Amino acid sequence: MIALAWLVGGGSSFTPVFDKKEGALISPSSTRQSRTLACCSRKKTVSCLSQSLQRASSASLDWKNLGFSFMPTNCFVCATYQNGCWGELEISKETTIRIPIAATVLHYGQAAFEGLKAFACKDGSIRIFRPEKNAERLQRSASRIMMPLVPKEMFLNAVVRAVQENCEYIPPYGSGGSLYIRPFLFGSGARVGLGPSDEYTFIVFVVPVGDYYKGGLAPVTAVVTEDYDRAAPLGVGNVKVGGNYAADLLPYMQSKEKGYPVNLYLDPVERKYIEEFGTSNFIAIGNNKKSFITPNSKSILKSITNQSLMQLAQEELGLQVEYRKVAIDEVSHFDEVAACGTAVVITPVGRIVYQGRVMNIGNNPDQVGPVLKQLYELMTSIQFGQIADKRHWMYRVV
Ligand code: PLP
Ligand code: COI
Repeated sequence: MIALAWLVGGGSSFTPVFDKKEGALISPSSTRQSRTLACCSRKKTVSCLSQSLQRASSASLDWKNLGFSFMPTNCFVCATYQNGCWGELEISKETTIRIPIAATVLHYGQAAFEGLKAFACKDGSIRIFRPEKNAERLQRSASRIMMPLVPKEMFLNAVVRAVQENCEYIPPYGSGGSLYIRPFLFGSGARVGLGPSDEYTFIVFVVPVGDYYKGGLAPVTAVVTEDYDRAAPLGVGNVKVGGNYAADLLPYMQSKEKGYPVNLYLDPVERKYIEEFGTSNFIAIGNNKKSFITPNSKSILKSITNQSLMQLAQEELGLQVEYRKVAIDEVSHFDEVAACGTAVVITPVGRIVYQGRVMNIGNNPDQVGPVLKQLYELMTSIQFGQIADKRHWMYRVV
C-alpha cells in the first residue's frame, strides 16, 4: 500500500469542478464525482477564486528565463485506487512519495503520464489548453497497460485543483512562460509475478516553464536515429507510457552529445517513413507553402498540439492538410519543418542529418519560416487569450 504524507485539504476547502459547457468552475455537488470530492458553496468558490487571482504569479522567480526543469511548488494533488474504486482527491505538500519495493511501476513499467499547460491570459484569467484531450489520452494509455481509467471529471478536477493550489507559480502574462501540468498514473501495489497491480496512484504536479529548447523560435538541427527504433509496429508507441521515454533516452543522449538537440525516428519496418521526434510530432509545410504535412502511423503518439495545428492550418490559413505516410527522402522538398508538442510548442527544424548528409530545409534554414511563424502566433495568441477562442479550446480555471 502506498504511504503518503497527506495534508488533507492543504489549507483550502475548495475543490473545483468544470462546467463543460461554460468551461468554468461549478460546485462539485451537482456532479457524479461529488461523493469523492469535498463540497463547497458557490459563495465560497467565488471567494477562493478571487484569492487565487490575487496570489497568481506572486512567487519571486526569474519568469523570463525559466527553461524546463523541476522545482518544488506548494503541493501536488493525488488519489489512490484500491479495491476497485478511486478514493478522494487529496493534497500533499511533500515532493516525495513512498511506494512498495515490489510496486509494478518499478519492475514492469506500469506507468503513463500526460503533459498540458495553464496560461495567465491577457484578461487576467487563468486558462488550461484542451485538458479534456489529455484526460482521454490518459485513458487510452491506461487501457493499453491494464491500469484503471481515471474518470474524465476526476482528471479535470485534479488538474484544476493543482493549478489553483499553485497559482503563485503561474508565469505572469507577458513573460512568455506557462504552468506545465504533469498528471501521471502508475501501479503502486506490490506484485512479483507478472500481472497488473491491484493498487494505483494518480498524481498531478505542476511546474512553471519557459522554452523547452533555448532560443524559442530559432531553428534547431535534428538527427535521424538510425541505430534504434522508438516503437514497435504494434507496440505502445501510440500511448504515453513511461517505457517509450526510457527507450528514447540512449538515442536522445547520444544525439545531444553529437550536438543535435532533437532526434527523429523512422518507421521500424522499412526505415523509410518518418514517425516522430522523441518528445514531439513531426510537421512540415510543403507544396509551395500550400500544404500542412504530418505522418500518419499506428505507432506514433497523437499530439494534441498537432491536431490543433492541423485545424488552424486548414481553417485559418487555408492550407491543405496531408495526413499520410511521409518518406524521409521528401524532407529536402519541404518548405518548412518543425517539432510540435506541449513542451516544445512549435520548434522549427532548419536541418536534418540523415545517413551522414545534412539536408537543409527551405531557402533559409537559419530562420523560422513564415507559415510556421503564423501558426505559432495563432496558437500562442489563443493560449494567452490575445485573440478569440472560437473553438472553445481554453478551459477557464480562474
Ligand atoms: N510525441 C511524443 C512522443 C510526446 O512525448 C509528445 C508530448 O507530449 C508529443 C508527441 C506531443 O503531444 P502533445 O501535443 O499532446 O503534447
Ligand atoms: C510534453 O510535451 O508534455 C511531453 O510529454 C514531453 C516531455 C517528455 C518533456
